[in-house]
Amino acid sequence: LFCSQDYLMSATRLRIRRPDDFHVHLRDGKSMVSLARVNPVYKRFLVMPNVMPNPITTVDRAIAYKKRIEAEFAPDNDLQLLMTLYLTDHTTPEEIVKAKESGIVYACKYYPAGATTNSENGVTDIHNVYDVLKKMAELKMPLCIHGEATDPSIDIFDREAYFVEHTLIPLHADLPDLKIIMEHITTKQGVEFVLNGGENVGGTITPQHLMYNRNQLLVGGIKPHFYCLPILKREEHRQALLAAVRSGCKRLFLGTDSAPHAKERKECEKGCAGCFSEFLSIELYAEIFEANGCLDKLEAFASENGADFYGLPRNEDFIELEKKEWTVPENYTFGDSVVVPLKAGEVLKTYGGKSSGPEPLMELHRALSACLDK
Ligand code: DOR
Ligand code: ZN
Repeated sequence: LFCSQDYLMSATRLRIRRPDDFHVHLRDGKSMVSLARVNPVYKRFLVMPNVMPNPITTVDRAIAYKKRIEAEFAPDNDLQLLMTLYLTDHTTPEEIVKAKESGIVYACKYYPAGATTNSENGVTDIHNVYDVLKKMAELKMPLCIHGEATDPSIDIFDREAYFVEHTLIPLHADLPDLKIIMEHITTKQGVEFVLNGGENVGGTITPQHLMYNRNQLLVGGIKPHFYCLPILKREEHRQALLAAVRSGCKRLFLGTDSAPHAKERKECEKGCAGCFSEFLSIELYAEIFEANGCLDKLEAFASENGADFYGLPRNEDFIELEKKEWTVPENYTFGDSVVVPLKAGEVLKTYGGKSSGPEPLMELHRALSACLDK
């Protein structure tokens, strides 16, 4: 292991199988994030359904939303959109059948009502949708969960741990055949749930939860661009996430939760939750993995585990990350406004800029990976 990380660190270019982002918010209407504008490294995007004013609660809406996003693509764009369906108290098992048959819906999203941005139409009690979840298990439709309790008496920093204990563990026990993805895990309890879960439990991790603890948000002045949900936690939880990534668990994978909000909606009296990382996220993950001594685990996390968990083929093309300094833009156009990315104006020291490469992994890297598999 040591040898592989050392070797990779000394290389000036890192080639990995083309990654997928299994959790992204592309928004809608004038504020749709233009994936055509910046050469995107990801091949597939699992598109979150919490758009306004009409969340993607039906298959017909998913089909129409997919068309709206694709209308923004450049003609030579080969990106693939994996759509999701927003579960409500009123979703029917028939809609799940329709979703499966559509061939464009790859997962359903469970938002506890009121847990986060645009989740007002979410589920008020998980038992309200048990028939739907049983149908999903039967049809092998994965469930993506925003894992936070919403009871106002529960402290915001404890909401994920509470949800794991009171909702996720019982759910997995009741429906072990249901594929569950605990989205954007932020706590050691979340890590334990995924690591101890069987083959049907997966989890995604964002760059911000690997990089920062809650001090980043609150010490030395409140910094709204670090506010997202689930909220950044204590350092011990971040350490648990880093350890989970180092463990190389095959059921943990990349989901940026890149969630743009206009600058003025973040820098105000009641700022929105969400960090925007889409156009620098793979560089951030590479930096984090390198600093965490597990660059050799990046490719599986970014480009293999998610596809495997969803039962999709791994991408057949490759990307190359170059070691060169890169200054993150101060902002990107976003509808009539701008959106401020994570690390705006900062210099990324290790992996900056990106270029697609058609060739396979460097031979030596491949040989090292093969030797590690033994
Ligand atoms: O911070 C977040 N922003 N967390 C979510 O769960 C939703 C997202 C958004 O849509 O803005
Ligand atoms: Zn999200």
